[in-house]
Amino acid sequence: MSDTYLELANSNLGKKLFSAMGLPEPVTLVREDPKEPHKLSGQVLWGNSHGAAFEDAIGQCLKENKLIVGGTPMGVKGHLIYDASGIASAEQSSQLHTFFQQSLKALAPNGRVIVVGLKSSATNDVEQGTVQRGLHGFIKSLAKEIGRNGATANLILVDKGGEVSLQAPLRFLLSAGSAFLNAQILTAASPVASMAADWQRPLVGKTVVVTGAARGIGLAIAKVLSRDGAMVIGVDVPQSEVDLISVMSSLGGMALPLDITDHGAAVHLRDYCLTKGGELHAIIHNAGITRDKMLSRMSDHQWNMLMQVNLGSVQRINSALLDTDLLDNGGKIIGVASISGIAGNVGQTNYAFSKSAVIGMVETLADSCAARGITINAVAPGFIETQMTAAIPFLTRQMGRRLSSLGQGGLPIDVAEVIGFFVSPQAAGINGNVVRVCGQSLLGA
Ligand code: NAI
Repeated sequence: MSDTYLELANSNLGKKLFSAMGLPEPVTLVREDPKEPHKLSGQVLWGNSHGAAFEDAIGQCLKENKLIVGGTPMGVKGHLIYDASGIASAEQSSQLHTFFQQSLKALAPNGRVIVVGLKSSATNDVEQGTVQRGLHGFIKSLAKEIGRNGATANLILVDKGGEVSLQAPLRFLLSAGSAFLNAQILTAASPVASMAADWQRPLVGKTVVVTGAARGIGLAIAKVLSRDGAMVIGVDVPQSEVDLISVMSSLGGMALPLDITDHGAAVHLRDYCLTKGGELHAIIHNAGITRDKMLSRMSDHQWNMLMQVNLGSVQRINSALLDTDLLDNGGKIIGVASISGIAGNVGQTNYAFSKSAVIGMVETLADSCAARGITINAVAPGFIETQMTAAIPFLTRQMGRRLSSLGQGGLPIDVAEVIGFFVSPQAAGINGNVVRVCGQSLLGA
């Protein structure tokens, strides 16, 4: 579904009109170039707090990607990176203020602000741990100030031993793939498996399963993972078999028509993966449904059916896979939650319950997965332009779009790119993360 307001705001006539009328003018976001995905370009203004810990890791990333680094505000606009990990007192926080006050004018439209800090568990210094937590509030507020230019601000917190894992989130945040990720916190910890892979096609030789792959966000995930080199096994209900086969054959993948709520579906899916090569790199639990009704009028069927698709089957598939060693040493489990599961929504008690529980799944499985070399993470999409959101009444739909710092809804590919990042071998130090892909929606923020 197209966003007519956004298109108009970016037309020549619209620009003049909207500015004269004082209307919000959201900027068209720049997404990955399909011909050259993961290519980083542009200029970076980079600053470090006194005693910053990650200068080497950041410097290496910028050098390897041939990004031009300016030490003082540049003539050309670009991205801003600040290593705030050295800040250990209220007084020292002024370094953050000074850097950004001087450098914000150098931030390009669609540019990125990336702040790197310390996870509180990574320091024994109580004062430093306290002050580092302030970076959450800083980044969330700054994101609101810069969003109207399509620029985003995100925070990477480095846990003990996580310095070696910093490169992947830095690269991802600097890439066009992170266009709709805003005001989020990624935690980089010690890697749980090998991170060796090609940055341009990180999934070559890997098999991944995507549920709900026949359309919408699942289709975009299948395309992005296939672009990155994966062999995709797409799963969807038998009623969507024709679409599923057509999509999967265009991607050189495999179609598995299967209702994931069917008795024995989880074991069937696992056995399919075992017979098709005995290797599985990732399972993306994307299939999901809504059955909206006020709780007082919600039938048992509406509650139970939704819970089986969004939660029960996800748990059964995880159990079936984790009963084997299919995912061990490098595998990935990805949940698809929703900001409804964080903020709640009228008429969605069932949906919000199921999506909150997906976040619970990440929290409860993260440690045991890490011990086996597996990472588990989730995305919580906000307003994404799909058939699901096209069905929302006109005014509510407009509100859903404009209520984010970027002033627009996201596209399925925005969710898919974040999942592509989680699934890449280089993200082996990113575990137990739940990020909202919502352009910093005001809902539940
Ligand atoms: P969609 O309705 O366009 O696609 C969902 C796909 O899942 C469909 O192809 C459907 O056939 C499949 N599916 C449903 N039940 C299934 C079952 N029992 N077995 C196998 N496949 C099944 O939905 P959309 O918008 O692409 O959403 C994808 C995921 O993202 C869902 O989990 C949804 O809850 C979540 N999400 C979507 C948001 C949005 O704005 N569109 C916002 C937040 C979360």
